[in-house]
Amino acid sequence: MRAIMLREPGPPENLELTEVPDPEPAPGEVLLDVAATAVNRADLLQRQGNYPPPPGASEILGLECSGTVAALGEDVTEWQLGDEVCALLAGGGYAEKVAVPAGQLLPLPTEVELHSAAGLPEVACTVWSNLVMHAGLSEGDVLLVHGGAGGIGTHAIQVAKALGATVAVTAGSAERLERCKQLGADITINYREQDFVEELKTATGGADVVFDNIGAKYLDRNIDVLRDSGHLVIIGMQGGMQGELNIGKLLRKRGTVSATALRSRSLESKAAIVADVRTHLWPLLDQGTVLPVIDQVLPLGNAAQAHRTLDEGGVFGKIVLTAK
Ligand SMILES: NC(=O)c1ccc[n+]([C@@H]2O[C@H](COP(=O)([O-])OP(=O)(O)OC[C@H]3O[C@@H](n4cnc5c(N)ncnc54)[C@H](OP(=O)(O)O)[C@@H]3O)[C@@H](O)[C@H]2O)c1
Repeated sequence: MRAIMLREPGPPENLELTEVPDPEPAPGEVLLDVAATAVNRADLLQRQGNYPPPPGASEILGLECSGTVAALGEDVTEWQLGDEVCALLAGGGYAEKVAVPAGQLLPLPTEVELHSAAGLPEVACTVWSNLVMHAGLSEGDVLLVHGGAGGIGTHAIQVAKALGATVAVTAGSAERLERCKQLGADITINYREQDFVEELKTATGGADVVFDNIGAKYLDRNIDVLRDSGHLVIIGMQGGMQGELNIGKLLRKRGTVSATALRSRSLESKAAIVADVRTHLWPLLDQGTVLPVIDQVLPLGNAAQAHRTLDEGGVFGKIVLTAK
């Protein structure tokens, strides 16, 4: 098969389309003919050598894909050859074939086309596990999503609106905020020009849940914007990984701060998230209430270009790479 291989850690030019051996499905795994994969910010870090794959995972980049079931490993009974699916991966998506634990497959939602579905598993599992399973976001809550125009943000807006939450977002331009509004965001804040604490306190008195991709740089202000008993969920470190936590402020608000990573979870934990996503979130995709947000679709061979584009900023939603 052909796959995008990393010659050595470094710039996007180090990604090249190469012939490599096909993967074999181990017991409990499914082999997929990949239709498409999607580019994640974590892929950029892995390319630079700063985010190695977890033990046992493929060295090939790619945390999600869509495709067709091409072979079944021993003990797999819940999927059939020819099923159209999308899958959460620990790696291996930038390729024509990938072997995936059966518990990380999701059926193609009725309202979603196969290539677009490649952009769903990572955002769906991250958003659902953090906002709903972990922080308990529910109807009537106020959610603040940082990076509302990104892959995670565009999905979080739709899911939170479907749950009946009031959604505030930050983004870096008026145009991007307007597009977040079209997806359902109620309150839009330009992080380059406005203070999100001031803006949200004025609008709603604060947030019950803050969904944060920035980390250290926003830690103190994220605590400031929490309502009493609020929950700050950190999933990214775009603004650094070492911050100072004012425990006094947190304690007075009876607040919770948590941080999670999806890729390093055990197979059992990933399968549990995928099962919950399938039961509760997939019906929203089947109905078309939540849809993938795809900024651009490129052939797999253009992975380097996709990395440069994501790095430069300005992508709204996700970049998909098609393998066929
Ligand atoms: N922990 C996990 O399991 C997990 C899983 C998936 C993703 N992540 C992480 O989650 C983050 C978001 O992922 P993604 O796929 O959505 O990435 P993305 O599509 O590249 O989006 C990143 C967003 O960050 C925004 N941003 C940059 N500086 C900001 C600031 N100072 N304040 C507010 N927003 C700012 C950008 O907004 P503008 O373009 O509008 O400036 C952009 O929309 C990444 O750090 C990723 O690594 C973590």
